[in-house]
Amino acid sequence: PAVLDDVSAEILDLKKQLGATILAHYYQDGDIQALADITGDSLKLAREATKVDSPVIVFCGVLFMAETAKMLNPTKTVLLPDLQAGCSLVDACPADKLAHYQDFLRANDRKFQTVCYINSSAKVKALSDWVVTSGNAVEVVRDKVPAGYEVLFVPDKHLGRYVGEVTGRDMILWDGSCMVHEIFSLTDLLKQQKEHPGAVTIAHPECPKNILDHADFVGGTEVMIRHVGTFQEPTTFLVATEPNMMWQLEQRYPRHTYLGVPGITCSCNACPHMARNTLEKIRDCMRNRAPEITWQPEFDKAREVLTRSLLNPP
Ligand code: 13P
Ligand code: SF4
Repeated sequence: PAVLDDVSAEILDLKKQLGATILAHYYQDGDIQALADITGDSLKLAREATKVDSPVIVFCGVLFMAETAKMLNPTKTVLLPDLQAGCSLVDACPADKLAHYQDFLRANDRKFQTVCYINSSAKVKALSDWVVTSGNAVEVVRDKVPAGYEVLFVPDKHLGRYVGEVTGRDMILWDGSCMVHEIFSLTDLLKQQKEHPGAVTIAHPECPKNILDHADFVGGTEVMIRHVGTFQEPTTFLVATEPNMMWQLEQRYPRHTYLGVPGITCSCNACPHMARNTLEKIRDCMRNRAPEITWQPEFDKAREVLTRSLLNPP
């Protein structure tokens, strides 16, 4: 629509005025991904943020992602269109509860390291030995946690279970989950698989075991894109992740057909946090240079953990 075109044009104009780079996660609306300079999964966006040479980063994603970009780029201005864009995983793991549980494990002479999913607060990152994303969790747990140590994995119990299954490591799981991936309907997936016998099911490791057990391929969003790209013949994919991901897949590989797996309570599992960002809010945050991510005391320690985990790959 014309009104959105005007907003997009204004954003591109403001981008020049501010010297800004726009980063967008694959779970953002197609309109937003279309005007971003860089799209990516959490890992790619964190790494790309360190290569940006403009003074301002506009982060189209959720709070923990924008905080990560700030921690890795302390001197840059990082803008987030809506500070309320949170994450159910972050909410599931308050730092004081984690510290308490770590004390309990130590008091019981458990030998463990704490691995936190990047979908966590900066305080939780600061309490961790390693930070992982869905794109490198298996490698970090396998290659960086010393043998003989249990892995306290927070906050995503589904990703943690999956990483334990792949690496064979002893995991202590936190009871957190992603509100989007938690609710895919196995009944509907099985129905879709029956209706489309040649279809390939791809699922994000934030999904529960019952969905992953029926998937042909499990991987984070970047790995999913690479996998889909290996299919040369037109193929139908049943996609068990946030539906905006299908926009990105359609742009890259239009030869294929993508069908979203329905949720238990709704037919479309859009992430309500990601959906808080709109073109209008992106324009406004650039006009106002706010909301801005400001440096917090816990960022110092969290930055160390992030840097050794994400920027020095195993
Ligand atoms: P990735 O970006 O690692 O695929 O994770 C998906 C996600 O849920 C981000 O919030
Ligand atoms: Fe958090 Fe899930 Fe939304 Fe990602 S999709 S931001 S993990 S609630």
